[in-house]
Amino acid sequence: MKHNVLLIGSGGREHAMTWRIAQSPSCGELFVAPGNAGTSSLATNVNLDISDLQAVKAFCLERAIDLVVVGPEQPLVDGIIDFIRSEEELQQIAVVGPDSTAAQLEGSKEFAKEFMSKYDIPTAAYRSFQANELEEALAYIDQIQAPYVIKADGLAAGKGVVIAEDADTAKNTLIAFLKDKQFGEASSKVVIEAFLKGIEMSCFVAVDGTENYIVLPRAKDYKRIGEGDTGLNTGGMGAISPVPFEDQALFKKIEEAVVKPTVQGILSEGYHYRGFVFIGLMIVDQNPFVIEYNVRMGDPETQVVFPRFETDYIDFFKAIALGNLNAVEHKELQEAATTVIAVSKGYPQSYEKGKAITGLAPIDNDRIVFHAGTKTDNGQLLSNGGRVLAFTSYGSTIQNALDKSYEQLSKASFEGMTFRKDIGFDLETE
Ligand code: AMP
Ligand code: GLY
Repeated sequence: MKHNVLLIGSGGREHAMTWRIAQSPSCGELFVAPGNAGTSSLATNVNLDISDLQAVKAFCLERAIDLVVVGPEQPLVDGIIDFIRSEEELQQIAVVGPDSTAAQLEGSKEFAKEFMSKYDIPTAAYRSFQANELEEALAYIDQIQAPYVIKADGLAAGKGVVIAEDADTAKNTLIAFLKDKQFGEASSKVVIEAFLKGIEMSCFVAVDGTENYIVLPRAKDYKRIGEGDTGLNTGGMGAISPVPFEDQALFKKIEEAVVKPTVQGILSEGYHYRGFVFIGLMIVDQNPFVIEYNVRMGDPETQVVFPRFETDYIDFFKAIALGNLNAVEHKELQEAATTVIAVSKGYPQSYEKGKAITGLAPIDNDRIVFHAGTKTDNGQLLSNGGRVLAFTSYGSTIQNALDKSYEQLSKASFEGMTFRKDIGFDLETE
């Protein structure tokens, strides 16, 4: 049987998902809402307002959609899964993603911290404060040591975490968050937590509402705009997989101390969670600590994780939604994968769009350019966002894959194209 699929999102992550779904022999019609120029070469982009749930319903019925995959967090936090599950006419649809309650694992830092404490999942010690507890929060800063890690409770587009080196900066941040409501409701509560010094990595787990789970290949992303991990945080400037410093002993600790209690906790709480758990980890002296949960795949991590994870993706997504992940055949490739992101000049602050893109090589066996912010206008490929292209390659080693990513990037151009030359700089990559 062929399946008609609706994938929600428009980034590089969704192009990588589209690429994988389209490879499945049982892929029928594949729609991406809203998609980008890359997804339009493999699927049909649809201009659907995702926040208009009645419009989503009408589209699913009209196109006989039987699988919905949600890429980004916002629609999950806003309740798209709850809606589809509650509509009688949409019961035949398999949906990938947690409902809005479970999505609070990403949508509220305090919620996530309480979950971790309850299930003994290692994380930094913390306290949380509400808007009416500003004085207590300021006093707390005087009791603890620098650096201070201050997090807005809610979704703040990756800008809600401040690591303050001194007490004055920490206090000013608390005032900006709690009193001046810099991120509105999202910063009307804060979490202050202990600073963990270590190396970060990301672990992705597919869960299906039972005790089954699959740990996908691990990855490391590069969040800062500047070389040497300096400057502002971005959505991610590049990623690599596998993670060379993860040996078997470390993986076992991650699985036992973090993955299993997380899956068990989700079950014990009775959450409706059939999708991906993205666990942001800090490895401190070879021990994993959870920095954050996200309730979706990462971007740009998906662009290196999915290439290394081989399965029939329609079967895989269906199994996630229907609770039979144990029956899914899958394999992690030995090859490394890397992606280097080309961004618009000025990103992550203001930038211009609409620049003509040239020099993209066609997809071959070990190189693929995933599109992020792109569109086509009268046959011309144009930039259409902050992150524009993800130059992705396979290689026998991470260094070998990186060389290919940089080689294909060097042939491409658009006005103001900016990228980091040092993805993987902190790793022994040979
Ligand atoms: P988050 O949005 O929670 O992932 O935080 C953004 C970034 O802040 C993380 O990727 C880390 O680099 C850093 N960070 C967050 N929490 C801590 C912590 N407790 N100690 C050190 N760095 C942290
Ligand atoms: N690359 C980090 C994220 O997707 O949130």
